Amino acid sequence: LSTFITLDSGYKNTGATKSAITFLDGEEGILRYRGYPIEELAAKSSFIEVAYLLIYGELPTQTQLTDFQFRVSRHTLVHEDMLKFFDGYPSKTHPMGQLASLVCCLSAFYPESLHPNQTPEEVELNIIRMFAKMPTIVSWIYKKAIGHPVMYPKNKFDYVSNYLYMTFGHRTEEYDLDPVIVDAMNKLLILHADHEQNCSTSTVRIVGSSDCNLFASISAGVAALWGPLHGGANQAVIEMLELIKKDGGDVDKWVAKAKDKNDSFRLMGFGHRVYKNFDPRAKIIKEACDNVLNKLGIQDPVLDIAKKLEEVALHDEYFIERKLYPNVDFYSGIIYRALGFPTDMFTVLFALGRLPGWVAQWKEMRENKEPIGRPRQVYVGSTTREYIPLEKR
Ligand code: SDX
Repeated sequence: LSTFITLDSGYKNTGATKSAITFLDGEEGILRYRGYPIEELAAKSSFIEVAYLLIYGELPTQTQLTDFQFRVSRHTLVHEDMLKFFDGYPSKTHPMGQLASLVCCLSAFYPESLHPNQTPEEVELNIIRMFAKMPTIVSWIYKKAIGHPVMYPKNKFDYVSNYLYMTFGHRTEEYDLDPVIVDAMNKLLILHADHEQNCSTSTVRIVGSSDCNLFASISAGVAALWGPLHGGANQAVIEMLELIKKDGGDVDKWVAKAKDKNDSFRLMGFGHRVYKNFDPRAKIIKEACDNVLNKLGIQDPVLDIAKKLEEVALHDEYFIERKLYPNVDFYSGIIYRALGFPTDMFTVLFALGRLPGWVAQWKEMRENKEPIGRPRQVYVGSTTREYIPLEKR
């Protein structure tokens, strides 16, 4: 080999970059955004404030927050032609497929975003546009899926309330925001906002490293998040819990299946590449689960199954040995369902939360003038061979 290559498939022990945005300690179960512990931010902050913190590096003053909210509110509308895309999607197109294409096609309306060497002001404008339009696009995907007319943003609402208004509001009557739902949504989106170099964030960075525009870079992150081993796990968890419920709720049987090497079944929502103790987000979401369901007066049998599953797995040698604990996706779907979201929208909600993290990491990568990402490989294929004409094969 001309240069020494260390093989590290899945980048389990590779540091791809230097970043000042998010700190994880997998052994201690620590997660901090710009130095602030996730527990404090989830309890005391709002999603738009956390988005500002991730993107600009500091908690905003009141003036900065008001200005940020105002600048975002100038860009919450999307071009009317975006509605035409929906006419092209087959009726059962998965919301994540729609989101990836809609986000990528935002660049069609901002051709200047394709120019290389953009000024900081041009980059900032597209960051605001991306952050501002995501709730509108996400709510339109939902409205189109249920055959309801789309709603337009009302800028009197704050970022999260506007999203809930566009999702659950109707043109036929006023929409009363339920503070329980607004609070739960803020908490969930904060908990999903960033997570250092996970699969989708690394994708955003590597696509952006080719000097690709922000919209296409974020679209690539949406695609990576869709996978059931990553963000798609929140949908897979609910489908798994429903399966176990339908099968009579015998968690021991399904835990045994998850341990069986010959069985491809995995406990979705369990395990994590970094957290080898517990996922601090899962703890917060589990508490929020009980709180939200009680306040909304909802009894969800899959919550009981989830708790039983967690209990059995946490005392099982196989899971203990492999340090497999519930991750962020294990309980989040139960809250999303209680808030009224359909299962196939769960990963889109993960993307809505992760957006400020993706944007912050893309911005940091460009500001640090990082080189184009281009890993090497260890070649294990054929040595040189002579071409054999067709008639002789
Ligand atoms: C997210 O990276 C991030 O930060 C991601 C995320 C974020 O915020 O961006 O936190 C969000 O993606 C959370 C993870 C959601 N995915 C799932 O819940 C899917 C189920 N989990 C697994 O597929 C797995 O745990 C991963 C993908 C999360 C992590 O995979 P790793 O680190 O590559 O671990 P591995 O697959 O090598 O597993 C190690 C061992 C294996 O057994 P052995 O070969 O050693 O005998 O643990 C076993 C695996 O078979 N294992 C499981 C399991 N997860 C791992 N066995 C049963 N059920 C599981 N869920």
